[in-house]
Amino acid sequence: MEYRNLGKTGLKVSVISVGAMTFTEKGWRTAGSMPFSEIKRVVDYAVDKGVNLFDTADIYAFGESEELLGRALGDRINEVIIATKVRGVMSDDPNDRGLSRYHIFRSVENSLKRLGRDYIDLYQVHWWDNSTPIEETVDALNDLVRQGKVRYVGISDFAGWQIAKSVSLQRCKGYAPFVSAQMYYSLLGRDIEAEVVPACKDLGLGILAWSPLAGGFLTGKYSRNKPFPEDSRYSRMEKPFLRFDIQKAYSVVEQLESLASKYGATVSQVALNWVRSKDFVSSIIVGVRSLKQLEDNLASVEWELSEEDLRYLDELTRPYRPYPQWFLDMFADL
Ligand SMILES: NC(=O)c1ccc[n+]([C@@H]2O[C@H](COP(=O)([O-])OP(=O)(O)OC[C@H]3O[C@@H](n4cnc5c(N)ncnc54)[C@H](OP(=O)(O)O)[C@@H]3O)[C@@H](O)[C@H]2O)c1
Repeated sequence: MEYRNLGKTGLKVSVISVGAMTFTEKGWRTAGSMPFSEIKRVVDYAVDKGVNLFDTADIYAFGESEELLGRALGDRINEVIIATKVRGVMSDDPNDRGLSRYHIFRSVENSLKRLGRDYIDLYQVHWWDNSTPIEETVDALNDLVRQGKVRYVGISDFAGWQIAKSVSLQRCKGYAPFVSAQMYYSLLGRDIEAEVVPACKDLGLGILAWSPLAGGFLTGKYSRNKPFPEDSRYSRMEKPFLRFDIQKAYSVVEQLESLASKYGATVSQVALNWVRSKDFVSSIIVGVRSLKQLEDNLASVEWELSEEDLRYLDELTRPYRPYPQWFLDMFADL
């Protein structure tokens, strides 16, 4: 396993981490479900293979994901880094959501109880809260770090300016800074390259890439002119959650298939290796619904794409550079 620093911190995280959004027996949204016995096998295999970072959130199956992750880790819970999140809507109570001091303090206690731990390694704000001043949020998070309940804080799904504003504020106040940005990043979704990645590079946050397989689209199991396979995530969706042009996506998958056969590997491994080639990515959070899927995805660390093939994939999926990026690119060296 390869380990990378989490942003500018000294914390070493495995380049592949396991996301617990699918850790639910009841099922949650389109993520599907898994029996606890399979979750346990996934977690044990991951730890044995050197995965030291697990990501969950309070809202994943309304706490069930945190609970099952804690149960599956059992005695090994203090051997790994646990990242969880706060912000989502947990109940009809208007204060059981958002990034107020009230909700953050209440949520951290609930997450700790569910995980069966007395601290959280990385506490992430799940997404921006328009109804709470960011000053209140970073102040509350700083208190949690000083109390020892939380070791590091991070963001998820922020715009570039929101990251810049929050971290600048933390720096001015001498608060514990956001060290990571958990963002959607895959060969089908490279939008963060325009604003978020430059902000993170400048401010020292490491990217934790979520849905690196575009929710499973980049595994080879979806192909043009064939119905979505039964019990697959896309077959459970009324409309796609991630935004991409499906016809172009099929063409990308076809190119991944030919690279996979060249390397004697799988489509998933090619897609994950491209994400791993980016030095701004601290860890790639994979989601799985079986041990077999995890075995496939973790085997991606055992080999690398050539420079030429990486450049080919970069070009194939290069995103449009919205203004002012194209202007700034044009005059960067003047
Ligand atoms: N911060 C955020 O807003 C946010 C949002 C989403 C996710 N996340 C985090 O990121 C993690 C990963 O997200 P994700 O689950 O969307 O990631 P993903 O890796 O893009 O997709 C995972 C899904 O693809 C399918 N799959 C995975 N490996 C496969 C393989 N080798 N062969 C065939 N199918 C395979 C499985 O779904 P099926 O078998 O059901 O088809 C699996 O549940 C989550 O657990 C969560 O921790 C964060």
